[in-house]
Amino acid sequence: MPQNHEEGAPVLSTEYHVDINAQGPYLVYGKMPVKLQVITPNHEGNSWTFRVGKKDYRTDQQPVALCRCGASKNKPYCDRTHASMRFRDGIPIELPDEEI
Ligand code: FES
Repeated sequence: MPQNHEEGAPVLSTEYHVDINAQGPYLVYGKMPVKLQVITPNHEGNSWTFRVGKKDYRTDQQPVALCRCGASKNKPYCDRTHASMRFRDGIPIELPDEEI
């Protein structure tokens, strides 16, 4: 069982690894399949379920950077727009002592 695994939570494949890049993208390792999913509404018009789309996204490059800020013009991939928009995710940034 992987470390930091909460009892009762599903165990995911160890083939893949995802790092969260502070103030930036998800970095995905292991050629994880990435497929388009579309949120579909219920009869009241509220977001309800995901429908799996037909489009697959390439993950040959290692790691593949997936957008986390929502501003990429090449979703699901990161195009570095997060840097120009100064995306802040609330994850504390560790600065070297000389910058504090
Ligand atoms: S995280 Fe890089 S463009 Fe969104």
